[in-house]
Amino acid sequence: MNFKRTLITSALPYANGPVHIGHLAGVYVPADIYARYLRLKGQPVLFVGGSDEHGVPVTIRARKEGITVQQVVDRYHDLIKDSFAKFGISFDVYSRTTSAVHHKFASDFFRTLYDNGKFTEQTTEQFYDEETHEFLTDRNIKGECPHCHSAGAYGDQCEKCGRTLSPDELINPYNAVNGNTLTKRTTSHWYLPLDRYQQWLEQWILEEHKEWRPNVYGQCKSWLDGGLKPRAVTRDLSWGIPVPVEGAEGKVLYVWFDAPIGYISNTKELCDSQPDKYGQWETWWKDPSTRLIHFIGKDNIVFHCIVFPAMLKAEGSYILPDNVPSNEFLNLEGDKISTSRNWAVWLNEYLEDFPGKQDVLRYVLTANAPETKDNDFTWADFQARNNNELVAIYGNFINRALVLTHKYFEGKVPVQGILTDYDQQTIREFTDIKQRIEELLDNFHFRDAQKEAMNLARIGNKYLAETEPWKLAKTDLARTATILNLSLQIAANLSIAFEPFLPFSSEKLRSLLNLEQIGWDALGKTDILTEGHILKPAELLFEKIDDADIQAQLERLKRIKKENQEAAWQPESAKNTATIEDFEKMDIRVGTILDCQKVKKSDKLLQFQIDDGMGGRTILSGIAQSYPDPQELIGKQVLFIANFPPRKMMGIESQGMILSAVNADAKLVLASVSKPVKNGAQVG
Ligand code: MF3
Ligand code: ZN
Repeated sequence: MNFKRTLITSALPYANGPVHIGHLAGVYVPADIYARYLRLKGQPVLFVGGSDEHGVPVTIRARKEGITVQQVVDRYHDLIKDSFAKFGISFDVYSRTTSAVHHKFASDFFRTLYDNGKFTEQTTEQFYDEETHEFLTDRNIKGECPHCHSAGAYGDQCEKCGRTLSPDELINPYNAVNGNTLTKRTTSHWYLPLDRYQQWLEQWILEEHKEWRPNVYGQCKSWLDGGLKPRAVTRDLSWGIPVPVEGAEGKVLYVWFDAPIGYISNTKELCDSQPDKYGQWETWWKDPSTRLIHFIGKDNIVFHCIVFPAMLKAEGSYILPDNVPSNEFLNLEGDKISTSRNWAVWLNEYLEDFPGKQDVLRYVLTANAPETKDNDFTWADFQARNNNELVAIYGNFINRALVLTHKYFEGKVPVQGILTDYDQQTIREFTDIKQRIEELLDNFHFRDAQKEAMNLARIGNKYLAETEPWKLAKTDLARTATILNLSLQIAANLSIAFEPFLPFSSEKLRSLLNLEQIGWDALGKTDILTEGHILKPAELLFEKIDDADIQAQLERLKRIKKENQEAAWQPESAKNTATIEDFEKMDIRVGTILDCQKVKKSDKLLQFQIDDGMGGRTILSGIAQSYPDPQELIGKQVLFIANFPPRKMMGIESQGMILSAVNADAKLVLASVSKPVKNGAQVG
């Protein structure tokens, strides 16, 4: 297929917080590199972004901050848009899913599928709060975990034992926001019957898109192998796009139904406002000679490779993505980035701490891009890459070439004389750079592509080091001229090669070289700068980053970690949901630990042998992380629940549950008695 234009989308970030380095590394920098690269090649490109402003997280944020949901999304939409602009993410359009255009477009899209019988309707029983008159989402329901019996498990997962749950499994479910007990009511929703698209998706992805990244292809395969099921595309919520069907009051489109349609409605908004410049939106979305590429993070794969394509297919007139380059996750100093735990480097804060250093972050994030596996951002690596690569290799080369030209040739590009074998050899080393970078970029290998660009600077540095023009100047000015001419040609090449990756630095370099924007085609040429062309005075392209700046960042993270531990320690307020009868059902007793071992192949479980005064028993407990040396526990008295039915874990039968308390550092501490008592004694 010969494509005529490329439509690039990048996942619409939730407007429930600022964007951080994980967003940038995973989605927006790669998408921007790709968009800039194609534009440099003179190809028609449209790069679409926007904020995802529906869904539950924004409503939770609003409640937490005591403001309206609209205020939340307004604030973060503006902040996110501003951060992207400052980092040079070159969107052609950045709009939002609360826009009037989007509401209408998504609503009409739903209605078309509805009218064409593409949905099924199902009635189910859902938890309902009689006082607030709302159906609750899984995450807003809490209760006792049916497995580990810890309190406060969520309707979708127990964070203590890690098991996935459905709200129906919770014991004594309540509203997580107000503690109200819940009733059940029937509600009906529309479903996209993905099972009907199973065969088609298998053919389209597994047969026709074997070239997709292994992580993407693999996730799709495992979803398809598991068998697709109908998915609800509506929700009982007040925040969102109303379902445009009579009798559907109080229901909105599911956020994952409306958000990807935002790619289309944002394109429409742009094209309708400037049709002469951007053409018709349908050309971008319906003409088969348009190539559609979705840039996303790995948690979005199923929606972009399975659900959204099924929606487009159901509608029938749209093109489908040609590729979905998805990245894995970026961690921060070894821990998962988390918006709620403030464990992130926020783009707006980075710019306050490192003004003007957007390209440094872009460089480091691409150099460490989590393209094939999760990767780690560390401040030490950030500093090293800046000081040892950007400053010492790229910046140093440019500076030497410029300073020497000013020194010996009054800042004018000197004459290229006869080339030596060594010159020829150097030229050969970089003339195929264009092809190499192209091949990498065409296949979404951004990390390696940027490495090639840096190699070009290495070639330049080596050339100057070997030819030593500063020594030749007095004896052989003609030879010096040739060397500097070639060096300056390499510098001009660098401004092109780095343009997609480090747009601000390329612009600065071009201004030092007194050059207009040059197209990608010039890459690899040695006659970009003509003889006599006047250069601007030399200036540093990059600056060293001091230890003190890095130390300040590490201190900040340390402080956040401490705050998080303290916050984790804040006891959750007790819910008055138990009766004395409930308590009496529990047979809690004292026992002495006779032996304690790690369970093989489990990093959580310890196996306890307990003298319970009744002949002894084995109990498994998930506290291995808190007691790295289990032997130290032998001889201690502990409390355990003696009347749970036995349960097998990792092939071992556990007869009860040992009680423990969570400490401020999130470690578990076994509960005990303050004086020795007889084993088997009841607690009550
Ligand atoms: N807001 C989602 C997230 O941050 C991404 C939405 S992508 C879209 O995970 F396709 F739905 F727009
Ligand atoms: Zn649990």
